[in-house]
Amino acid sequence: MTEELVRAGRGALRFARSQMPVLDGIQREAERTRPLAGHRISGCVHLTKETGVLVELLVAAGAEVAWTGGDEVSTQDEVAEALRAAGVRVFGRRGMTTAEVEQGIDDVLKAFPAGPTIVLDNGSRMIERVVRDRSAFPELVAATEKTTEGSRRVRELDLDFPVVSVNDIVTKWEVDNTYGTGQSTIDGILRATGALLAGKRFVVAGFGHVGRGVAIRAAGLGARVIVTCRSNETAVRARLAGFEVLSPVKAAAQADFLCTATGYPDVVTGEQLDVLPSGAVLCNTGHSVTEINLTDLAARTAEVEQVRPHVARHHLRDGRYVDLLAGGGLVNLAAGEGNPSEVMDVTFANQALATLGLGAEVPAPGVHEVTAEQDEDVARRKLAAMGIRIDEEAAA
Ligand SMILES: NC(=O)c1ccc[n+]([C@@H]2O[C@H](COP(=O)([O-])OP(=O)(O)OC[C@H]3O[C@@H](n4cnc5c(N)ncnc54)[C@H](O)[C@@H]3O)[C@@H](O)[C@H]2O)c1
Repeated sequence: MTEELVRAGRGALRFARSQMPVLDGIQREAERTRPLAGHRISGCVHLTKETGVLVELLVAAGAEVAWTGGDEVSTQDEVAEALRAAGVRVFGRRGMTTAEVEQGIDDVLKAFPAGPTIVLDNGSRMIERVVRDRSAFPELVAATEKTTEGSRRVRELDLDFPVVSVNDIVTKWEVDNTYGTGQSTIDGILRATGALLAGKRFVVAGFGHVGRGVAIRAAGLGARVIVTCRSNETAVRARLAGFEVLSPVKAAAQADFLCTATGYPDVVTGEQLDVLPSGAVLCNTGHSVTEINLTDLAARTAEVEQVRPHVARHHLRDGRYVDLLAGGGLVNLAAGEGNPSEVMDVTFANQALATLGLGAEVPAPGVHEVTAEQDEDVARRKLAAMGIRIDEEAAA
């Protein structure tokens, strides 16, 4: 079984790499210069085949690496097994309890007797753990963080080491959050339900980078998209983009699908649950499982029936039912494979360059943004990989 998994994982890694030319190019440069030689990296990023390619790059750059997916549902076991076979210390598996996820983060931090020198994070939980117990990690010099939510949270921490936020850049926002997650969220919903979106009322909670992408793609499949917003400014943008904007309760009362995409807890609470039409599909693509208040849902549920993988049918006490996808976790990673490899090529190119840069120079403590130069460099590398040039020579 393990051998089979290792074989499948190696195939998945090769397949992903073939669609990740930017990361592959960075790895070839790093193999020569080995900027991370002597570094120990603890990573906490959803363990997909694309993350596996990033891990291979870090190893090729000279680092010792320990990894966990940091999430209940997204670890791809075959990838984890292939990395273990290659000597990477990987903790966790698909289908963990929250307690096991937390344990995995601790295990990865303790994987090296002297602790990590660099942390790679996705949601800031590993960074927060280090800050809470700073004296246990005396050799940690820096970290990188790649999510919207994590970047926001690290700004609230009292940091005595630098964290590079690999999020607030055009190539991440547009390629990953909007177009990548927009597509993969719809993909996850369709894989889970096999439903027809055309003609359905599809509510997107949040119109940031991710919400906009989900709204665009749902509309592209013929759904009638309704957006709910917390800020007036995003509501204006959603309206000007052509979407209906309603209050959360009014929107929920019409929803055939309700998808949260905010990064904040309690976006869907009892108020909306009480008005959802029977048969509504409820899911989340924001970073954490708390966007849909599962306690409120449980309080209204008489019985839960697992009608198919990733679809828990909640028979409500008042006779209605709602289908909760992926337990309220990230629907694109749980029911699908997460973002396309080509998308993660760009995201991880940014995180890889930020991490490799730490091997050369460690900035001052505090949060640092990826530079506009790196953003432009990654865009240039991606365009080159796509065979596109924007100068006159290409037009000739
Ligand atoms: N599923 C994935 O693969 C994936 C990929 C990228 C980002 N994310 C996550 O998606 C979330 C959103 O990311 P983003 O880049 O769009 O962030 P963003 O900051 O651009 O947008 C979030 C938006 O949600 C709005 N919001 C907050 N609370 C709300 C509420 N109760 N109702 C309606 N709107 C509300 C905010 O005003 C903001 O406009 C984050 O948690 C991020 O980490 C997930």
